[in-house]
Amino acid sequence: GQFYVAVHGSALVVILCLFSLSLVAAQARYSIPEEQAEGSVVGNIARDLGLAVERLISGKARIITKGSQQYVNLNRDKGTLVIKERIDREELCGKTTPCSFSFEVILENPIQLYRVTVEVIDVNDNSPTFAKDEINLKIVENAAAATRFSLVSADDPDVGINDIQKYILKPLDHFKLEVQNQPGGGTFIEMVLHNPLDREKEETHTLVLVASDGGEPRRSGTVRIHVTVLDANDNAPVCSQAVYKAEVRENSPEGTVITTVSANDADKGVNGDVTFSIPHVGKEAKLLFEVNNKTGEIKVAGKLDFEKSKTYQLNVQASDHGGYTDTCKVIIQVIDENDNVPTVQLMSFSNSISEDSPPGTTIAVVNVDDEDSEGNGLVRCSINTDVPFKIESSLTGYYTIVSDNILDREGVTDYNITVTVTDQGSPPLSSRKDLNVKVSDINDNPPQFAESEYIMNVPENNSPGFSVFTVNAKDADWGQNAQISYFLEEKEINGVPVSTLVSINSESGVIHAVKSFDYEQIKWFEFNVTARDAGSPPLSSVATVKIMIQDQNDNPPQVLYPIQTGGSVVAEMVPRSADVGYLVTKVVAVDVDSGQNAWLSYKLQKATDRALFEVGLQNGEIRTIRQVTDKDAVKQRLTVIVEDNGQPSRSATVIVNVAVADSFPEVLSEFTDSPHDKEYNDMLTFYLVLALAVVSFLFITCLVVIISVKIYRWRQSRILYHSNLPVIPYYPPRYSDTLGTGTLQHVYNYEVCRTTDSRKSDCKFGSDASQNVLIMDPSSTGTMQRIQSDKNILAQPNSPVEVSQ
Ligand SMILES: *[C@@H]1O[C@H](CO)[C@@H](O)[C@H](O)[C@H]1NC(C)=O
Ligand SMILES: *[C@@H]1O[C@H](CO)[C@@H](O)[C@H](O)[C@H]1NC(C)=O
Ligand SMILES: *[C@@H]1O[C@H](CO)[C@@H](O)[C@H](O)[C@H]1NC(C)=O
Repeated sequence: GQFYVAVHGSALVVILCLFSLSLVAAQARYSIPEEQAEGSVVGNIARDLGLAVERLISGKARIITKGSQQYVNLNRDKGTLVIKERIDREELCGKTTPCSFSFEVILENPIQLYRVTVEVIDVNDNSPTFAKDEINLKIVENAAAATRFSLVSADDPDVGINDIQKYILKPLDHFKLEVQNQPGGGTFIEMVLHNPLDREKEETHTLVLVASDGGEPRRSGTVRIHVTVLDANDNAPVCSQAVYKAEVRENSPEGTVITTVSANDADKGVNGDVTFSIPHVGKEAKLLFEVNNKTGEIKVAGKLDFEKSKTYQLNVQASDHGGYTDTCKVIIQVIDENDNVPTVQLMSFSNSISEDSPPGTTIAVVNVDDEDSEGNGLVRCSINTDVPFKIESSLTGYYTIVSDNILDREGVTDYNITVTVTDQGSPPLSSRKDLNVKVSDINDNPPQFAESEYIMNVPENNSPGFSVFTVNAKDADWGQNAQISYFLEEKEINGVPVSTLVSINSESGVIHAVKSFDYEQIKWFEFNVTARDAGSPPLSSVATVKIMIQDQNDNPPQVLYPIQTGGSVVAEMVPRSADVGYLVTKVVAVDVDSGQNAWLSYKLQKATDRALFEVGLQNGEIRTIRQVTDKDAVKQRLTVIVEDNGQPSRSATVIVNVAVADSFPEVLSEFTDSPHDKEYNDMLTFYLVLALAVVSFLFITCLVVIISVKIYRWRQSRILYHSNLPVIPYYPPRYSDTLGTGTLQHVYNYEVCRTTDSRKSDCKFGSDASQNVLIMDPSSTGTMQRIQSDKNILAQPNSPVEVSQ
């Protein structure tokens, strides 16, 4: 049979006693908590199995363990079982309950076998543990309420009450915990959102999940749950400033940053990215400004012109990707730059001013303007100072340019006036306008001759039309006012109008001789030339032209004495007693030319006896050069040549008969008896016939002259009105009442006297003599009607041959 021994204490020990022939078996049962220290008594097996200690010793009682691990030792001396090594229930059994192990105690002599079972009771020696220390969760902030998030459960190796009994989540403001026991064991824990998250308020939440068991003492394990709230685009951007004010200079280059707008978006990441734009803007401003869509920089994109617009308002839209927007107002003030050049505009301008305009005459009105504002638009207007003009301000923006002085076109013909306008910007801008003002002419200058008197020498015998001289006058004026015409001033010269002597080309001023001048008729004359301009009224001036006619050797000398008569023999008497140097006679000759041309020299050309006479080279005196002897012929014939000094010289010859005798009868006899008597008579006869012819001729001539004079007077009364024939009635200067200055007469007389030179006492200026003498000059090259002025000379040795002394 078998039986159970109940052991006192907490454990029930059943001792099963087996009785058999070979094997007696009894059982004992013990119950111990785990983790007992080594040597701790498990139970008294001797007592419980009813065995004496001696038996145990004698029976060599020992423990037989089937498994590898022997947790218990047998203390034979005391009959107790003790813990051999620490027993861990969790290691031994895991989650299995109840947990026990068994072994046998064997005795020899007799062999006895006893089974002992030890139950290990759980002790709360393990805490709940989580697999991780931390749990990270990312939850979108706009996650809906009741959203569940599962969590891993904790683990506790202990069993029973020592196992996990509850979970606690802290804090519970957003989440609560739901724990479900799985049908197959284990628990399922979930975190449920019950209060919405706001990342903008709290970006992370840290929760603690505590798992606790039911042991005594209670043990617990925790895990941290980090909840990161993920952003949702739930916020609109907000401009940092409601109104931005900025200033920008006009003409700033493109890309100049004016200002930067910024906007804050409470969202994070892309949800907080703000882009800027200017959606609603005028067409004009759109070209002028641009905004950087990322940075919010507002830049100049076009040409800003203060003069077009001074302020701009931009509505910059800040928007995030979620379509939320805000509008930042930007007021941009454009600052003026001195970028506009002042302008000068001619409102009226007369480009010429009369030189007699009084000072203060307006020549131009200008308008100046500058589009800039303030100082940049304030202009000053001036003109150059080297002109006799000044600028005066009239209305605002208008200036007048007026003359400031008396003008003289002859001094300065035109002025360059530079109108300069300068604004007061920095740097100042300026512009200019050039005006050219011409001074218009007034006939204020008379023509001016280079000299007031011109003296011209003209050789006589010039060809008509010969250009004598050119007078030239200058006129400082211009155009018509300087267009000069020349005129001869009417005047009579020796009773004839000056126009019969000279003419003038009214344009060129060339004076032409109208006729051939004869020095012997007129030695000089003067007349006035008027130069007159074509101005209105015209101005004129006068120059005197004096024409000196130059003598030419166009007249041969004329022998006045001795008179050459054909028939009568005129002879000079030379007494035989005459001394050496006796003045026989004097050849008197004149030359109507003057100067060298009238400078006469006398030479003996032929003589009966050259040794007896000589002729004074200068004075024409015939003198004896030796004592007259009886042998000398009574009748001596001398041929004297008179030459003037002109080039070529002209000459005349005269035959002088000299009678060398003491008495007149001697002479007579000599001359009558001379072999020349026949010839003389012939000559006489010839002369008588000639005289008759001459008388007849003279009579007819007288008749003709009288008739001619009548006709002439009748015609002249008509010519005075009609004719300007270049015929000058010639009156000897000396007797002319119209001409004949005293000086001229004197000079003429003087010259004549000087040329004759021989006997000064012979020159008697008769006061009564006034007669024209007609001379037939046989030696002259041509017949010339000459009116001898110097009657005195003619009168002097006028008597026929008189043998005197
Ligand atoms: C921002 O501007 C850049 C170039 O300026 C452009 O490429 C980009 O598309 C713009 N972005 C938006 C969102 O307008
Ligand atoms: C005015 O200017 C013109 C052209 O520049 C020049 O020919 C002329 O000589 C100037 N006149 C004066 C008076 O300076
Ligand atoms: C020339 O004119 C001036 C005055 O203009 C006068 O005095 C002078 O006598 C004139 N001369 C002649 C030769 O007519």
